[in-house]
Amino acid sequence: MCDGCSQEKTSSLEHLIQALDFGCGYGITSRPLANQVGRLWVWDQAERMRMFARRHLADRPNVNEWNDTDSTTHFDIIWVNSVVQYMCEPSLATRLVQFASLLRPGGCVVLSDLIPPDHPFRKDALSLLWFSLRRGYLMRAFVRTRAVANQYTDQKTKASLYTPSAKRLTELASAAGLVVRWLNDNLSHFRHRRTAILTRATS
Ligand SMILES: C[S@@+](CC[C@H](N)C(=O)[O-])C[C@H]1O[C@@H](n2cnc3c(N)ncnc32)[C@H](O)[C@@H]1O
Repeated sequence: MCDGCSQEKTSSLEHLIQALDFGCGYGITSRPLANQVGRLWVWDQAERMRMFARRHLADRPNVNEWNDTDSTTHFDIIWVNSVVQYMCEPSLATRLVQFASLLRPGGCVVLSDLIPPDHPFRKDALSLLWFSLRRGYLMRAFVRTRAVANQYTDQKTKASLYTPSAKRLTELASAAGLVVRWLNDNLSHFRHRRTAILTRATS
């Protein structure tokens, strides 16, 4: 092996990383994630979303569909972006126990886009407008903002969004054997939402 190759191998361990995109939706955020890891597993509760994700990610050879009862595949990262608000507390508590059992040593669960309690919608609308305008999507900015507003209205009429406090999330994580660290900035463009990194209490 030439020096160049061995250098490349030692400087990039990304190909070893195994990740799960839990609640992947259409798979839009799965695509960039797949570029950063060796293997990406995707899963969504909704069969329709799994179908969209399957199509959207069909050209990615390192992406597999996860089965949510699989206890044999372990992950360095379990990414749960913009999903917790659609879960109920018992379901989140059960999933956290499952996630803890699926982490590789040193692995973490990333809960991003967590909506703080009493979060006003206008803050998300502003983040979205700002994000879209910065990219020059003037018309799309308004369409997207309207779509988010509609989602909120729909959710409010069906059931309220689940928005656990930091204290409650820490308690749920602790019951699952996980500890919580909060990032200063959320990982998505929703600047007023939050990201929590959960690791095994003993790691
Ligand atoms: C706002 S989308 C986020 C999609 C994706 N994570 C992203 O960032 O683009 C929320 C997704 O969570 C899924 N979802 C809702 N409740 C879930 C649950 N209990 N378990 C897994 N997925 C769930 C929905 O079907 C939907 O696709």
